[in-house]
Amino acid sequence: MKDNNKICVLGTGYVGLVSGVCFAEMGNLVTCIDRHKDKVEMMRKGKSPIFEPGLSELMKKNIKKERLFFETSLKKGMKGATMVFICVGTPPKKNGEADLSHVKKAAQQIAKNLQKYTQIVIKSTVPVGTSAMTERLIRRHCKAEFDVLFCPEFLREGSAVGDFLKPDRVVIGATDKKIARDLVQVFKELKAPIFVTNRSSSELIKYASNCFLANKISLINEIANVCEYTEADVEEVAHGVGLDKRIGPHFLKAGIGYGGSCFPKDVHALNQYAGAKGYDFKLLKAVIKVNQQQRDNFVKKIEKRLGNLKDKRIAVLGLAFKGNTDDIRESAAIEIIKALTKKGAKIQTYDPEAINRAKEVLDGQVRYFRNPYSAIRNCDLLAITTEWPEFKKLSWRKIKTLLKNPIILDGKNMLDGVKLRKMGFDYQGVGTSNGTK
Ligand code: UDX
Repeated sequence: MKDNNKICVLGTGYVGLVSGVCFAEMGNLVTCIDRHKDKVEMMRKGKSPIFEPGLSELMKKNIKKERLFFETSLKKGMKGATMVFICVGTPPKKNGEADLSHVKKAAQQIAKNLQKYTQIVIKSTVPVGTSAMTERLIRRHCKAEFDVLFCPEFLREGSAVGDFLKPDRVVIGATDKKIARDLVQVFKELKAPIFVTNRSSSELIKYASNCFLANKISLINEIANVCEYTEADVEEVAHGVGLDKRIGPHFLKAGIGYGGSCFPKDVHALNQYAGAKGYDFKLLKAVIKVNQQQRDNFVKKIEKRLGNLKDKRIAVLGLAFKGNTDDIRESAAIEIIKALTKKGAKIQTYDPEAINRAKEVLDGQVRYFRNPYSAIRNCDLLAITTEWPEFKKLSWRKIKTLLKNPIILDGKNMLDGVKLRKMGFDYQGVGTSNGTK
């Protein structure tokens, strides 16, 4: 055990909990802090408050090895810690700007408990200048020595543990390379390239990465829309384009647009930040517009098939913003269901994990089912809105007998359209109108 690395992680959302658990897995002594007593009790038993493959197992293992602890008291967590990670939320304000109130509060609490030199590492996604602002804030409240560093997190929900332990790169922002030495040491064993830069650059790297990926998705969605006027198939186009090493094959999946807790928020935040500085970020504005349009187009396609949606029964498979998560934040599926129910449609839906969360935001026009076949029974159309791997394995023969009309609109281009058309389905993906997919 490396007893020189005693780490405190403030905040146990996706980033905080996964980081804390993985730091423990890497051999560090970790205490994760959350102000909710019930949540802390639950986590102490090795139960993860979020659905994330592999996370509970790692929690249990490291709790047993006595290197992972959960506390409500920051004072206890910071006792003897050489590093404190700030992993609190930075939700969007109404105007898109990142709300830094949790970061500021965390900084004040840390300041109150600082006794000796500590490295304070911000992992929350924050606008350029936040590390410097945090440093000033802490300095105002305490006399102990400290440094503030920034270390963005690039993990994806659904593959968070793997992404954390096998990252493409680790980025560290510090005022001086020497200050970054200890943090470099923590990440060294991950055998990933470690890039140390100044704090402002590191803060912008996180936003730029997410905006770049969101841009890639919106671009392929625009290509998909053009495909629908032609004989081209966006799946084939994306494959051919992605073979170019300069472009790469990832994040070229066309569909109903990106959702989740990061892309929408971060694209809006960078657009807002640039605007506030006096720069009009036209490309990001277009990315946002295209993303909304993909959702609207999908609803229009359903209307084109069914005409007036009043009292039409539509099966929607998928509520989460993507597969392998129960997270519905900014989920295209939820927005599409809201638009359909507004037009009078009756929705029957199934999702392996996200039903309970969806119930909190959708109204009474939606019926939830614990298996996909029951959701599909007697429907006028089937819409696929989340890329859950299990949807690929459904019995389409059975589904053909359950649907009133054999129409499938695949918003995630995840099914085998050739096979389904052969079976007599009227199948349509996004940008795949000529039927090669
Ligand atoms: C993202 C970033 O990938 C991650 O680096 C960052 O730390 C947090 O934000 P996440 O939101 O968990 O991760 O999911 P991701 O897999 O990136 O997907 C985001 C959205 O884009 C989903 O709605 C997904 O369905 C959509 N998507 C993704 C596409 O529509 N097409 C693609 O090719 C890839």
